[in-house]
Amino acid sequence: MTVSPASMKIVDLRSDTVTQPTDEMIEAIVQAHKSGRLGDDVNGEDEVINELQEKAAKILGKEAALLVTSGTQGNVIALLAQASRGDEIVIEERSHTYLYEAGAMSSLGGLFPKPVKGTRGYILPETLEEAINPDDAHLAKTAMVVIENTHNYAGGTVITPNQVNALTSVARDYNLKIHCDGARLFNAAVALGIPAKQLVEKVDSVQICLSKGLSAPVGSIIAGTEEFIHDGHRIRKKLGGGMRQAGIIAAPMIVALEKMVDRLKDDHDNAKLLYERIHDIPGLSVEKPDTNILFLGLDDLPFDTMKLSEELAKENILIYGKYGKRARMVLNRMVNHDDTVRVAEVLNKILRDE
Ligand SMILES: Cc1ncc(COP(=O)(O)O)c(C=O)c1O
Repeated sequence: MTVSPASMKIVDLRSDTVTQPTDEMIEAIVQAHKSGRLGDDVNGEDEVINELQEKAAKILGKEAALLVTSGTQGNVIALLAQASRGDEIVIEERSHTYLYEAGAMSSLGGLFPKPVKGTRGYILPETLEEAINPDDAHLAKTAMVVIENTHNYAGGTVITPNQVNALTSVARDYNLKIHCDGARLFNAAVALGIPAKQLVEKVDSVQICLSKGLSAPVGSIIAGTEEFIHDGHRIRKKLGGGMRQAGIIAAPMIVALEKMVDRLKDDHDNAKLLYERIHDIPGLSVEKPDTNILFLGLDDLPFDTMKLSEELAKENILIYGKYGKRARMVLNRMVNHDDTVRVAEVLNKILRDE
């Protein structure tokens, strides 16, 4: 890969997972240690983790919450805790839990995904209703539905509380559990200008990632009823997720929850700025972003994402060279307004020149 001189800042748009922890987060780790509040979390003795879990449960409007190592671990725990081997899980066909979690629900839980088409990542209530199997011994029992908010692959799209509630009402009619993969739930909340708990009021379980736009170095949370968290705890242990003085992880997660949510708007503003400056490039197909993710459709251009990523890398701009003819750009805290303007200029240069 050819890159420009080292003096040019690297603008990393591969994901919001590339965000580095803030100084305040590092200080919070040091303070957690100095204060003597760290302990063995397998025995429930880490006070920083206990504080994080209580805070997260409150923010999400749920009875209880549990620290987990990653979004993937949180999603698989939620599924394994609420469905049994052989059960069917209705899931949007481009969702992360279906496509990008290494088949965990099937390999670890014996669960059978039933992918369905969404509209901007949202499973319409009638689509869910059609997907639910009747009670027939030939068929798997439909036990759960998974939603993703925001929806990554649909382009960081937001699902509103009304949409969530409409789906939940079908789930209730058929006795299904509903899990929300809220890896970027706070992006949705900030975009809608509402508290995050309104987006998950009716769902049984939710997973949030604090290591994405919120910039904590590691860690996710799952939340739901006391009973769900009790069961989830055992599954986390089985998956090797029982940690010890993990208050050093929880301390920056508390900073993320308290201090980093409102600034997600900057990432959304930069995503919109980028959209405004590139959407009229001939042959490029791009939707106005709801949040911090843009997908550039390259079908009518002589580029695939690999070639585009190589061209951008020459200008120290990073994107993943996967996703075929759809190039993903994820605005994040490490990319400021001026960087965004530069990315727009470079894209105009590369894509208009062909
Ligand atoms: C929508 C969504 N869900 C879940 C995850 C999984 O999170 P993790 O990478 O922490 O396992 C991701 C990660 O990018 C994601 O984008």
